[in-house]
Amino acid sequence: MITRKSIICTVVGAALSFGMAASSYAATTLKLSHNHPRDHAVHKAMDFMAKEVKDLTHGEVRIRIYPDAQLGTQRESMELMQNGALDMVKSNAAELEAFSPDYSAFNLPYLFRDKEHYYKVIGGEIGKEILESSRKSGFIGVTYFDAGARSFYTSKPINSPADLQGLKVRVQPSPTAIAMVKSLGGNPTPLAYGELYTALQQGVVDAAENNIPSFSLSRHSEVSKFFSLDEHTMVPDVLVISTKSYDKLTPDQQAALMKAAKDSSEYMKKLWAESEAKETEKAEKMGVTFVHPDKASFVAAVQPMYQELSKTNPELSALVERIKNVK
Ligand code: GCU
Repeated sequence: MITRKSIICTVVGAALSFGMAASSYAATTLKLSHNHPRDHAVHKAMDFMAKEVKDLTHGEVRIRIYPDAQLGTQRESMELMQNGALDMVKSNAAELEAFSPDYSAFNLPYLFRDKEHYYKVIGGEIGKEILESSRKSGFIGVTYFDAGARSFYTSKPINSPADLQGLKVRVQPSPTAIAMVKSLGGNPTPLAYGELYTALQQGVVDAAENNIPSFSLSRHSEVSKFFSLDEHTMVPDVLVISTKSYDKLTPDQQAALMKAAKDSSEYMKKLWAESEAKETEKAEKMGVTFVHPDKASFVAAVQPMYQELSKTNPELSALVERIKNVK
């Protein structure tokens, strides 16, 4: 096993043998936690980023990725990062809502007109502002990763909100996701991602919502045989780093990390499209039916969320308006 110590020993040894100052070779290893398996597109994109960071910094900065929630759920990983035990976490806007309220804008249903609008917002000024918004909580966003659109899945087709009536629907711990499921007539049940397979299997919840690759790679497709493409939200994945870990890097290393992250999220767009196609096919082979509901009744049912927001949270409502106005 390559340990941090052995990396440092090798690097320092090499430096000495070349007669150079050993101090300039001290390697920094950033520990990154996330909750997807290695064959998930986001893991591959972050692997790509880790290689680029290593190249750009001539081995001075390395990123060690811990997948599969080995180091804890998304929430636990965020807490470990805030306590200094972890450097980076790949989370998503729904989970981050609890840490920085600006992220909640991304969790509103039918906010984005289409994929192009979504890419423009997350890749533009507003996206940048939101990544910066968590500084006071001890971390900053590094980049977004495409995570497609989220839709409902359960053991029957969901053609309109009426089909969600009375169903216990697993949501992420996000107040906006909870409000959305309520507006659509379901009973929202917040649960950690890793508990969902068993919860679906044992009937603790009846339904869930996610993108196709996550649905398939987490094997929820073994239990839920109808995936209804209502595409209610486009919630980006977000890579964050603690300000403490970021500030320890030199300006050149920070620039290398930011460049590699940006390149990897561009690369992710391609990986995502490939993964969606592949996982759709795999799910179909496993007997999953993809349903194409008319979205109009879903869109209508969530409009009160926007009206409510303008009354209760004018600041967030203004941010939502700015997002809508991005052409
Ligand atoms: C997506 C996202 C994860 C998140 C998961 C969930 O798959 O990539 O970050 O944990 O949804 O529904 O919990």
